[in-house]
Amino acid sequence: MNKRRFLMIALPFLVSFSIVAGIIYWQGTAEQRDLPIEANQPTTLLDYDVEGKSPREIAKWIYDNHGCGECHTLTNTGLFGLTPLGQERAEGFEGCPGMLATVWETLAIAEEEWTQSQRKVRGDFVDFGCVLCHDVGPTGVGLTEIGARAALLHMSCSEVDSTLNR
Ligand code: HEC
Ligand code: HEC
Repeated sequence: MNKRRFLMIALPFLVSFSIVAGIIYWQGTAEQRDLPIEANQPTTLLDYDVEGKSPREIAKWIYDNHGCGECHTLTNTGLFGLTPLGQERAEGFEGCPGMLATVWETLAIAEEEWTQSQRKVRGDFVDFGCVLCHDVGPTGVGLTEIGARAALLHMSCSEVDSTLNR
């Protein structure tokens, strides 16, 4: 077989192999990208495009996507209302200000010495998605990257409240 003939046979193979490999690779990455949406997993504030959105729209997005609606309802009284779950928490003095205050309290105490209710609040702070924005470190509560973005957008928890419940 001479070189020219060899190339005429081998080249189409090579080209189609690269195309097929390329498509398979592209579909793989496309699938990865689509997965969160397909599985209907919440995207975070970092993925949310705030371009042209009003403060109210941004606050509503946070409310809908970061768990506030599990305990709160929207009102026009200036403050959130409470769902049955929220009411249950409020009776145990476990509102948002109380939860955050308790988390701070626990930082000064060794974990073995936490009371039952302190333990519960630390668990709830994780379970209710607070840690997505509030970074509980060994000596203080700071903000995660998502929390920092919320702060930058002027969307602290009380600002989400006051923006939505007017
Ligand atoms: C586990 C339930 C729960 C979740 C989840 C929750 N909250 Fe709360 N929050 C409460 C309760 C209970 C109170 C206390 C309300 C009261 O005592 O009247 C409260 C109080 C507040 C307050 C103080 C003002 C007020 O209305 O009393 C703000 C602000 C607030 N929540 C914001 C938020 C935001 C923003 C989110 C979502 C990021 C959120 N909360 C998620 C239970 C929850
Ligand atoms: C989407 C991000 C986000 C989530 C989720 C979130 N927070 Fe916040 N929260 C903030 C930011 C930002 C601030 C402002 C903090 C600052 O400026 O240091 C804040 C402030 C607060 C404050 C102080 C009052 C205020 O608004 O400044 C409390 C209390 C609080 N958060 C409790 C909670 C609790 C409890 C949860 C879980 C139920 C929660 N947060 C979930 C972003 C969030």
